[in-house]
Amino acid sequence: MTHHPAQRPSDPLAFLGARRSASPAILAAPVPNADQLAEMLRLAARTPDHGKLVPYRFIVLDHDACHRLAWAVGAAFAEDDLDAPPDAIAKCKQRFESAPMIIAVVCRARPDDPRNPKIPEFEQLMTCGAVCMNLLHAAHAMGFGAVWLTGWTASDERVLRAAGLSPDERLAGWVHLGTQTDARGDRERPDIDSIVAHAPGADKPEVHVARRSGRTAPNPRG
Ligand SMILES: Cc1cc2nc3c(=O)[nH]c(=O)nc-3n(C[C@H](O)[C@H](O)[C@H](O)COP(=O)(O)O)c2cc1C
Repeated sequence: MTHHPAQRPSDPLAFLGARRSASPAILAAPVPNADQLAEMLRLAARTPDHGKLVPYRFIVLDHDACHRLAWAVGAAFAEDDLDAPPDAIAKCKQRFESAPMIIAVVCRARPDDPRNPKIPEFEQLMTCGAVCMNLLHAAHAMGFGAVWLTGWTASDERVLRAAGLSPDERLAGWVHLGTQTDARGDRERPDIDSIVAHAPGADKPEVHVARRSGRTAPNPRG
């Protein structure tokens, strides 16, 4: 049985309130077809981007490519631990081997982009994260399951080269995509009251700014 937790939602707020990542273990074929994938990536790229630097790109890994990447993951793992037992190697490969599709969201953020050196790298990194989130939203809104993962493979040079990243690129995340084969309950969500504050203002004593004339006037930003 397949589950479409958010198929073509008609109520955007209900969709946002119910959206939930899949787990990689419950993702299977069918994956988005070429048109669906193009639409999904177009929607993901509709993301705020200070300076319009587009500090990201996508690498699409179909199932065969995921399988090839699994081999590189296993080889890297075995190279780092020459005594690694075969089942440990198999386990670390499994997530890639069984993936029906992965979108590598590649981060091209840099501190000194000559097109606009004033845009801090931090802001470009935030854009990359927002692209991942937007990709999840687009996938879920189209009725697919998706999950954003990293782990050691997301920063391992050998794995990243095998996935097609250049040496000057980083990975924002592996976004696993597919059809969700099982339902997934919600997880605990933050207690909103504990993370929301209201800026001081109304009950603050009125601040007066001295003007050149010596008179004082209410501070418009106070
Ligand atoms: C940058 C990033 C990296 C993540 N990497 C992993 C990971 O490697 N393994 C994992 O189990 N979950 C990882 N997660 C968490 C999953 O995406 C998790 O399922 C998700 O937080 C569920 O959120 P949701 O229920 O709001 O969809 C990561 C999340 C983020 C934002």
